[in-house]
Formats: sequence, C-alpha cells, structure tokens
Amino acid sequence: MTLRTDYCGRLGVDDVDRRVTVCGWVASRREHSEHLAFVDLRDHTGVVQCVVDHAHDLRSEYVLRITGSVRRRPEGTVNPNIPTGEIELHDCDVEVLSTAEPPPFPVTDRTDADETIRLKYRYVDLRRPRMQRNLRLRAKVNSAIRRSFEDQGFVEVETPLLMVSTPEGSRDFVVPSRLKQGSFYALPQSPQLFKQLLMVGGTDRYYQIARLARDEDLRADRQLEFTQLDAEASFVDQDDVLEFVSESVAAATEAVTGERPALPMATMTWEDAAERFGSDKPDTRFGMELVELTPVFAGTEARAFQAPCIKGILVEGEGDIGRNRLDTLTDLAKQFGAKGLAWFRVRDAELEGQLTKFLSDDEQTKLREAVGARPGDLILAVADERRLVRTVLGRLRLELGRPPVYEGGLNYIWVVDFPLFEGVDDAGRPIPAHHPFTMPHPDDLEKMESDPLSVRSQAYDLVVNGWELGSGSVRIHRADIQQRVFSLLGIDPEEAQARFGFLLDAFRYGAPPHAGFAFGIDRLVAILAGEDNIREVIAFPKTQSGADPLTGAPAPIDQKQLDELGLRVLPPKS
Ligand code: AMO
Repeated sequence: MTLRTDYCGRLGVDDVDRRVTVCGWVASRREHSEHLAFVDLRDHTGVVQCVVDHAHDLRSEYVLRITGSVRRRPEGTVNPNIPTGEIELHDCDVEVLSTAEPPPFPVTDRTDADETIRLKYRYVDLRRPRMQRNLRLRAKVNSAIRRSFEDQGFVEVETPLLMVSTPEGSRDFVVPSRLKQGSFYALPQSPQLFKQLLMVGGTDRYYQIARLARDEDLRADRQLEFTQLDAEASFVDQDDVLEFVSESVAAATEAVTGERPALPMATMTWEDAAERFGSDKPDTRFGMELVELTPVFAGTEARAFQAPCIKGILVEGEGDIGRNRLDTLTDLAKQFGAKGLAWFRVRDAELEGQLTKFLSDDEQTKLREAVGARPGDLILAVADERRLVRTVLGRLRLELGRPPVYEGGLNYIWVVDFPLFEGVDDAGRPIPAHHPFTMPHPDDLEKMESDPLSVRSQAYDLVVNGWELGSGSVRIHRADIQQRVFSLLGIDPEEAQARFGFLLDAFRYGAPPHAGFAFGIDRLVAILAGEDNIREVIAFPKTQSGADPLTGAPAPIDQKQLDELGLRVLPPKS
C-alpha cells in the first residue's frame, strides 16, 4: 500500500469533493491567523495548497502526509500561474513524516546559489522543479533512443569498464590492479575497440548507452564522466550510418518536443564548413558567414593584407562600435593566433579604419561589394594562412553573434568528408583527425603518401547549434590500408602490435566492412532541456575542478588499500 492517493501537482477541479492523501515537502507556509495557515506541499509533479489549522510547528522542507478534501478556491484567490491554482485541500489531517533543517538555499526554480553549494546539497537542489524536469526529460531521451535502435535491428551489448587504454586521444583514468601489482586498467574513453570486435564477432548491429570517462579539462559541454549513445554496424556505408543515427536523434527530439525534425538532416562538407563558418561545428542559426577576400586584395599595397588568404565578416549595424570594443576584439583575434584584426566602419561614401589609407578606391569598393556592406555596418578582416584565418574569424563570429545554445530551434547538421589528417606534428608527421582506424575516402587513396593533408576520410560529425553532438566513421577493415595509415603516422608494426594488436589480430580472422558512430547524450539532453551546461542534466556531476563536493571525491585512500595495491603516494606537486 502506498502512503498517498494522489500526486500534489495533478489535482484539479475534477477532484473537487474527493478526500485525498498527498505526500511531499513543505514548499512554503503562510500564517493567516492563529488558527489558519496555508501550506504549499511539493512533490515532483508540482505543488498543492493546503489549508491547515495551525502551521507554527511546520517548517520549510518538512516531509508531510496530508489528507484533505479538495475544494474550489474562494473567488479572488485563484492562482492562474500554477496547474493546481483553482483548488485547495481543506479540512486537513497533517502527519509529519520527517522534520528538516532549513535548506541551504531556497528550493525554487530560480537560484543564485553558488555551484559548489548546489552540488554539495545536490539532494536539495534536485527537488527544484527544473532539475526534476531535466532528469525526467533525460529518461525520456534514453528510452526513445533505445526504442529507435531496437526498432532498427540493433542489439544492446555491454562492454567492459575495466580495460586497456583506447586510442581516443584523451588522458585515461586508470585503476590499479591488486592481483597484478604494478599493472593498471583504464576506464573506457569509448567502447571503440570492443564495438569493432563485436563486428568481427558477427553481432551485425550493436548499440549501447555507454558510461565513459576522460581525464580532460572540463567545460560547459564536457565532464570527466559522460554518457554516449554508441553504435556500430556491419555491411553498411556512411549513408546508412547517417540514416540510422538521424532516425534515433529525431525520435529522441520528438519524444521531448513533440515535433519530429525533418529527415534527412542537412549535410555540409568539412571544407564548406571551414570556409563559410570557420569551424567544423558550424552554427548555422545565424549569418555573418566568412567571405573570401583574397582575390580583392591580390595586388594590394597594404602590407597587412599581403598574405596567402584574406577573409572577412560583416557585422551588420555595428558601424558605431567603440574603440574599446574594437581593441577587445583585436586582442581576442590575437589570442586566437592572428597577427592582428583589420576593421572598417562603413560610412556613406567611405570606409573608416586603420588600413583604409593603404587601400585603393577600387579595393575599398570591391571590399564593400564582396561582403554586401551598407552604411552603418562593420567589416572585420584577417589575413594569414588559410587555416588560421578561418579559425580566427570563425571564433570571432561566434563571439559576436552566437545565441545561447538552446535558442532558435534545433539546427541538426551533418558535417562530412573530414580530412584524414588535421595537420602535421613537429616531426612533420600527419596527425590523425579521428582515430587511426578511420577509412580514407576511396577517391583519395592514391594521394595518401604523396599529399596526405588533402586526403579526405569517411568520417562525419553531427552538429547541433554549434555543438558537436557526435562523431563516427567508416572503419578500415583491410590490413593493407591499415598498414599504410600506420606507416604515415609513424607507427611501426611492432608499436601497432603493442597498442592495438588484439584488434589487428582479430581482423586477420575475417573482418566485415563496418562503420559506426557515437553521440553525447548529456549534450543532446542539455540542448533539448534548454540548458547551456551539461551539468544541469546530470544527477551528480563534478565541479569545474573535477570534484564532487557531496561525497568528497576524489579523496585519499587509506594505507591498507595502498599496501594491497602495492602503491606508494608521492607528496603532491606544489
Ligand atoms: P568522440 O570522441 O568524438 O567519438 O565522442 C563522441 C561524442 O561523445 C561526447 N563526448 C563528451 N561529452 C561530455 N563530456 C566529455 N568529456 C565528452 N567527450 C566526448 C560528445 C562527442 O561528440 N569512438 C568515437 C565514436 C566513433 O567513431 O564511433 C568517439 O568516442 O558529444
């Protein structure tokens, strides 16, 4: 038998004259007279107003069980702002199930409580309606994703938590082994290698809602532990992956918003995204696209513009921007790696800016035309190597125009044809843009050795509102191609065997062509919940410095544990 007949927030005029029992926390209490008081009782569904004889022994956040009769509120006291605002409980019997100390911060949707306090008292924080809504929304997303993958013939398989290091590229969290002292497990950064082994194992279509850990710097969209929807399929190509992932993301979106995003989702090549948005995570919710200006200044006298690439952005209506703000933007551009930032205030007849005197009339006219400037606008331009110009302007564009991540609908967009390598390291070796098992684009295989940086890969990302939601690729299943990629990366056969030997061995026993993807569930849920930090959709997240103020993790362990593990701890580095 449960303690209650109803949830607080679900009572309404249909329940008038019923005698009901509700349970919950005291959200507020107002003394009306010595013998009449109002208590708002809260559970996860909302609050209901209860008229009680006296409330002087009831305090905020006490846990009560109230049995009362539902009646319409008297005329003039209806509260249209809450679903139960037309009714109240009267003739109440109140039972105190638990008393409570005063909460460390008010349990209301809006809070200015410090993050550390919120996390230290997360159990109080979670009572806030917004947090309860977020948890439930997350459960809905998980459930919709599961259903979607199952409907598409995928089977859920759990992969190990204690494993060896994977090639995802972040720092591992390691777990010391007691039985084999001096050896360590790594917590999974991704189930990447196991899901590929599952394909060799004939599983055909695998998915998992995987809990993962990466020891990297925390940001709004990053935690030390996070959750991925991870999937892999055999005998499929890139288009198939885009299709089944889009389908599951659409299902999750629909489960939350009631609206199904249009399929197929938009696609953009990596090259296009870099050229037009200066980013591999293009935020296409607003304009301010990067405009190619290299031809305009091909023969320029202006030293600052004598560079391999010049691009600009138009900031509409900002022609009166102050010098301070321009200096700040210039500093930002320098932080992003530029030598400087050229700016032009667009006037009726002329351009106003530091470089104007070095530009011919023809160059000024062409500049205006190229970016489509009108009087009152501002033009910003950067000249340098192409990659640098794109990233600097791409970041300035975000700085100047980016709405909060959850605003303006959901702009899902697939970025395809990533380069196989993202640059070269100090030794002149190409750096892989994804993990080293990513299949090169079939049309570019010939250029692998001669011009590796121009080789595209069959790797793709899903982006939403400027956030990377997920990424994946067609994998290499052929030993000869894998060998060529390894040797380009400077990984000799011995090292390859040492690092990924078990996967390479498996591939010798019959590897099907396969491809897959993973997306961040924390990120998807945050955007769907209208939050700009994934912490708000994780029940027990870590602070910016990786701590859990509630449990005290991370914490020292005692000497006995250390001895068992054969570990000795050095004094902390100052
Ligand atoms: P990748 O490393 O791009 O790919 O990760 C995929 C997605 O996982 C989410 N994610 C994170 N979310 C929160 N906090 C983090 N620290 C964090 N790190 C990653 C992001 C990201 O887009 N094995 C490949 C996928 C594949 O090739 O199939 C992988 O893990 O949303």
